[in-house]
Amino acid sequence: MSARVLDGKAVSQTVRNEVKGEVDRFVSKHGRRPGLEVILVGENAASVIYTRNKEKAANEVGIRGVLHTLPETTSESDVLALLDRLNQDDAVDGILVQLPLPKHINEARVLESINPKKDVDGFHAINAGLLLSGRPNLVPCTPLGCMRLIQESGVDLTGAHAVVVGRSNIVGKPVAQLLLAKHATVTMAHSKTRDLPGLCRSADVLVAAVGRAELVRGEWVKPFAVVIDVGINRIQDGDKSRVVGDVAYAEAAEVAGAITPVPGGVGPMTIAYLLHNTVRAATLRSG
Ligand code: GUN
Repeated sequence: MSARVLDGKAVSQTVRNEVKGEVDRFVSKHGRRPGLEVILVGENAASVIYTRNKEKAANEVGIRGVLHTLPETTSESDVLALLDRLNQDDAVDGILVQLPLPKHINEARVLESINPKKDVDGFHAINAGLLLSGRPNLVPCTPLGCMRLIQESGVDLTGAHAVVVGRSNIVGKPVAQLLLAKHATVTMAHSKTRDLPGLCRSADVLVAAVGRAELVRGEWVKPFAVVIDVGINRIQDGDKSRVVGDVAYAEAAEVAGAITPVPGGVGPMTIAYLLHNTVRAATLRSG
């Protein structure tokens, strides 16, 4: 048997088209474009690519995307001063600080300094708390992308067992909340969970977001399960390197009913939902 491939590239294009329509409506109504400011501190190679892609994707759908590239040595107070200015600027609807930050900058302090109404990453404690209490405002982008792909699979989540492997604030915790809101029975697991293979084998929906290359093997997957692989791990393969997920794809695809590839699965969905969140923030602020 071979699983249906959940094509994140194609679905993300659909989401971008939806967002473009919403941007056009916003511009007609308010006479201005939604604005997204992306802040990168330092030169982390992956972050440089991600932030450029975010700026470019924003402008492609008509959002005014601006990338601030600050040197590695930028002080925390300079980052906070920039956030203060953007928080107060009415033309700015969304603010995103790319993680990780250099070690001398306190990540929590920076994230808590973003106006929660402009927090398009959904990382602020206010937005995390609203999601937890069943009143979601701005919700993290990658979990929204996972949910859209799960929806595309056609699986009925009501009463289904969803296992989330990984407990990060960015993916594991929020995706578990979104699954719970859709009436799944949710188990949160992580690298220290006892009998992780056995637990995963009981999952109708398996979300892997631990950041360990090909941790989830084919034998861990329940026949016909929906497998969502959030991992992006660069591994050495002879003298070449390649990107793999947290799931051993070829093995898992033999057993699963539907599966996301890496690359081309969850990855492209994250940017699409950043654009979605930016228009949402603009609309919530401007009516
Ligand atoms: N670093 C890795 N993923 C993300 C993300 O979704 N948002 C931000 N701001 N930084 C990240």
